[in-house]
Amino acid sequence: MARIGRGYDRGMAGQDSPESGPRPIPRRAFLIGRTISELVARAPFLWPLVRGSSRRFWERRAETWGERSSVEHLAPLAAALLEVHPEPERAIDIGTGLGDGALLIAREFPHARVRGVDFSDEMVRRAQARIGLDPDGRVAFKVGDAANLPYEVDSFDLVAQLNVPVFFGEVARILRPGGHAIVAASWGTETPFYTSEAALERGFQRVGMERIAAGESVGGGTYFVARSRAE
Ligand SMILES: C[S@@+](CC[C@H](N)C(=O)[O-])C[C@H]1O[C@@H](n2cnc3c(N)ncnc32)[C@H](O)[C@@H]1O
Repeated sequence: MARIGRGYDRGMAGQDSPESGPRPIPRRAFLIGRTISELVARAPFLWPLVRGSSRRFWERRAETWGERSSVEHLAPLAAALLEVHPEPERAIDIGTGLGDGALLIAREFPHARVRGVDFSDEMVRRAQARIGLDPDGRVAFKVGDAANLPYEVDSFDLVAQLNVPVFFGEVARILRPGGHAIVAASWGTETPFYTSEAALERGFQRVGMERIAAGESVGGGTYFVARSRAE
């Protein structure tokens, strides 16, 4: 099978070692991921057509997803968080998977309450198991679809997502005035769930948000930071 990219499937078959490097992305998985990202960015109303198969795919991947973690995985999110001022009080990681992004945000912003949401029950169960019972309730995970998030208007002052298709309307809806949105891709243009900088700029503009930063992290990851207008 034709293969492209690096990292996305890192370690999935125990092939990950300093000698072999991360396992490349199967071309089919790359094309499906890219098609879904484009579809969601341009025509989010078509999402129900692929939602079921996409969710089943991620339910199956939950068991092995953690094996592909690598240094570059979180690097673009970490770089984007440096652009967020002041420190958020409430933050969310959409499509959190096993919760890596949410846990990074919680570490970088020690006073923030952080939520992680994912439409895969199994991902959320595993993410929640990583933190156990958090007595302060500072970090928590919940099942929910990025297309129809189970949160009120103006719930967060930071909405982040790493390697996940972008539903601009929902990001803008749950973000408070003046809040930040981050869209990051661990392997830049080689990431299956990648949305181009131009599409991000257009999409955020459409929902009344402005770009404040974009860049590349160590390892070729990319990030984009937008802000909603203050009232
Ligand atoms: C490529 S993984 C990324 C996981 C995590 N952000 C990371 O980088 O490790 C994509 C994740 O997004 C979730 N996802 C995809 N589409 C979603 C949607 N519409 N709503 C909520 N979660 C979604 C999947 O279940 C999966 O956990």
